[in-house]
This record gives sequence, structure tokens and C-alpha cells, in this order.
Amino acid sequence: MNRAASNSSFKKSLDALSVQSAAAESPFERRRVGKLVVLVLGVLGVLLLGRVVVYSEGGIQVSQLGDAVVWSSAQAKWGDVPCGGGDAAPPVDGAARVLVTGAAGFIGSSLMASLGARTANRPHTVVGLDSFNDYYAVSMKRARAERLKRDFGYDVVAMDVCNASMVEALFAKHAFTHVVHLAAQAGVRYSITHPMTYVHNNLECVVSLLDFVARREVQPHYVYASSSSVYGLNKKIPFSELDPITHPANLYGTSKFADEQIAGAYHNIHGLKSVGLRFFTVYGPWGRPDMSVYLFTNKIENGETITVFNHGDMWRDFTFIDDIVQGIERSMEYCADNAAVFNLGNSKPVKLDYFLKTLEGELGGPKTKIHYEKSNAEIKETYADVSKAHELLGYEPKTSIEAGVKSFMAWYKAQPLALRNDWAGGRFKGGRKRRR
Ligand SMILES: NC(=O)c1ccc[n+]([C@@H]2O[C@H](COP(=O)([O-])OP(=O)(O)OC[C@H]3O[C@@H](n4cnc5c(N)ncnc54)[C@H](O)[C@@H]3O)[C@@H](O)[C@H]2O)c1
Repeated sequence: MNRAASNSSFKKSLDALSVQSAAAESPFERRRVGKLVVLVLGVLGVLLLGRVVVYSEGGIQVSQLGDAVVWSSAQAKWGDVPCGGGDAAPPVDGAARVLVTGAAGFIGSSLMASLGARTANRPHTVVGLDSFNDYYAVSMKRARAERLKRDFGYDVVAMDVCNASMVEALFAKHAFTHVVHLAAQAGVRYSITHPMTYVHNNLECVVSLLDFVARREVQPHYVYASSSSVYGLNKKIPFSELDPITHPANLYGTSKFADEQIAGAYHNIHGLKSVGLRFFTVYGPWGRPDMSVYLFTNKIENGETITVFNHGDMWRDFTFIDDIVQGIERSMEYCADNAAVFNLGNSKPVKLDYFLKTLEGELGGPKTKIHYEKSNAEIKETYADVSKAHELLGYEPKTSIEAGVKSFMAWYKAQPLALRNDWAGGRFKGGRKRRR
């Protein structure tokens, strides 16, 4: 039974209860009514304690009992209507002007490429910014930015998001209608050794950017990257946006959860509406070399040993980049009422063994050498419940792990050998060449 139907049958049983109460005379009838009262109170209790989501008939309005969040969609199309928090007039030329932060990164550059392809014949402006930090190969970030310039004429401005006066200058020039904030210090294990990098990039810069956009007379539509890591040590799977988050696992996840809380505070104080996206292990062409798909492929190719944590008992909800980009673009069309968050995953976790075999098969040898290790920072399983994103954004992940790995491998093999080895270097633990 769907939720709307369950609500209406709940209402019918309440109506039936009031009719029966009036008619109840005999002890037998009183016992029946008593049982019905207990039943109705029980259902009510389950609804409240279970924090059941209630969707309206059109699937537009949703509220969560036991949680302060209420969200709804105004069904705008990105580029047609800015979804800002103020009583915003549409931009003068009627076109969207999009700022993408972290634009030389994996997801940011993929988003810009997709926007470029989608909006080729429309007068949109898309501008990227990136600090080009050396957490992993800067040459890979440059190659992504060069591709955006070459294929779409898009610029990626080299700057730190924390540089408020440069952000102000960019806004003065373009009056952005949309900000997609993807710049961050990513990586779980790196946060053990470099905590302050996360404080700067994921907290300080987030507050700096939010404070700027929230105080604008016309607030832009604000979409930002959160992470599946916010779920920390949660045991209940699949992970749902309704799950309480109380057991942090690492500083990276904690910083991302703090970002969501900060977005909530800016909604409360300045009315800034935002959409936070909890990405689940994203992979694909131009993927990050510190992440398992690239890192493992490169190590297998070079006959090096792969370190696998939790003794290999790990499941990851690998999500193909095109599906993530689809989710971001749909979020750019979605006007939140508040500080909304969504899971964006594939919702089909894969065990590490199978994943390694798939990589090995597509690469065509040599055989994988594995070293097993325990790590307290790594989460055993990630698994996204994407029903909220499906219902409200129309998000629909389409790519199987086999098809996604095939696509990644085609891209990987098309890169010159020296380059793919060079890109595998970086400051992250596990890089082939350290550049400290
Ligand atoms: N890739 C994933 O699986 C994944 C999963 C969950 C969340 N995320 C989040 O998605 C976002 C994008 O991730 P990605 O995989 O593309 O990572 P990425 O490292 O490839 O991209 C992030 C980019 O941001 C830039 N950057 C970092 N700090 C900056 C700052 N202060 N100012 C300007 N630029 C800065 C970096 O140079 C980098 O190019 C990040 O917020 C990340 O935390 C990614």
C-alpha cells in the first residue's frame, strides 16, 4: 500500500472509530471499541516513532513526522527561473548564469561539460573556479580545465573559494542565478593526517561563500556537495535522509555533515534555500586518482599491491558520474523550500571482491595482488536509499557497475601510459609518487 493510501485508510479507521463510539452500548461493543482505540493509538505511535514520510497526492509536498524538515518543489526549470530565496526578479537576459566551484575537479568538470553540451544553443553563462590544489595531480586538473575551454569555451578561474573579494568580483561581473558548490577537500583517510585542510576548505570556505550568497539582495539557487560519509557508523541500511546521524566516523564526513547544518542555519537566519547532495562513491571517466576505481586500476596495471581495508569485507554503492550529473542538474531545477538534502547513489552496493574482478577483467590483466588491512576510518558498507531523490527530483540512476567500469576503462586506456601513471601521483596516501 502506498503512503497516501495508508493515510487515507488511517483516516477512515478514525472516522469508523467515531461512528462506532456513538453506537457502543453493550460490554461486548465497548470491548471492541476499546480494541479499536488501542489499534488506532498503536498505528499513530508507529507513524510517529517510525518518522513516516507523508507525501501529498501530487508527490510534491513531503513532511517528516518527528523531524523539523518540510520540503516541496515549485517545479521550476533551471535556466528559466532562478530559485533564489528573495523576491527575485528573473535575470535581465532571461538566462541562467551558473557558478561551479571545484570546476577542475572530477564532478565539477563533468557537470560543466554536461551543461555545455545541453545548453549549446542557449545564452547561458557557465563559469568555474578552482584552487587547483595538489592533493592529487594538478596536471589532471589542468587537463580537465583545458578540455572545458576547448570544447565549450568555459573558463575555470584559479582562486580559493575563501577569497571573498574575488567571489564578489565574479558576482559583480556575472550576477549568478545558480551556484553549484563542489569545491572541497575530499578523501577519508587524508582527513586523519591533514585535519586542518578540512577545516579550511570544507568549513571556513563554506561559511565564507554562504555568507556572501545569503546576503545578496537576489539570492542565487544554491546546490552543494555533501557526502554519504555523513552517515558515519550508522548500521541501518540502506541509508536514508530520515536516519538520525549521531555516530561520526571521520573528520571528512563530519565536515560534510557540518556543511548541511550550516546551510540550515543560513536558511533560518537569512532564508537561503539550498539543496545538499549526499554523493555515494562516484566513478567514471576523468575520475579522481585517489579513489578506488582509478587507484586500483593503475596499481593492477603496474603489478603493485592493493591495500584493502576491513579485510575486504566492504560494500560500496558505486555511482556512475553521468548519474550524479543527472542528479545535480535536476537539483538545479528544484526549488527547495528550505535547506533540503538528498542521497544520490546507485542504490546497488557491490562487494569489493566483485568490483576488483570486474576491474581486472576489463583491464585484461595482470592479476591483482591484495594486502588486507584494518582501518577504523573506513565505513563497512554504503548503500543509498534514493527514494526521496526519485520522488522529488525525478532522479533515476541508470548505469550498472559493469557498464560503468567499461566506460571508465575505455577512457583510461585512451590516456597515454605516462600520463595515467603521472596522474596516479599525489599527496593522498596510496599515490604512486608523493609530492610533498
Ligand atoms: N567523488 C566522490 O565519490 C564524492 C563522494 C561524496 C562527496 N563528494 C564531494 O563532491 C565534491 C566534488 O568531489 P570530486 O570528486 O569532484 O573531488 P575533486 O577533488 O576532484 O574536486 C574538488 C575540487 O575542488 C578544488 N578545491 C578544493 N578546495 C578548494 C577551495 N578552497 N577553493 C577552490 N577550489 C577548491 C580542488 O582543487 C578540486 O579540484 C566535493 O565536495 C566532495 O567532497 C565526492
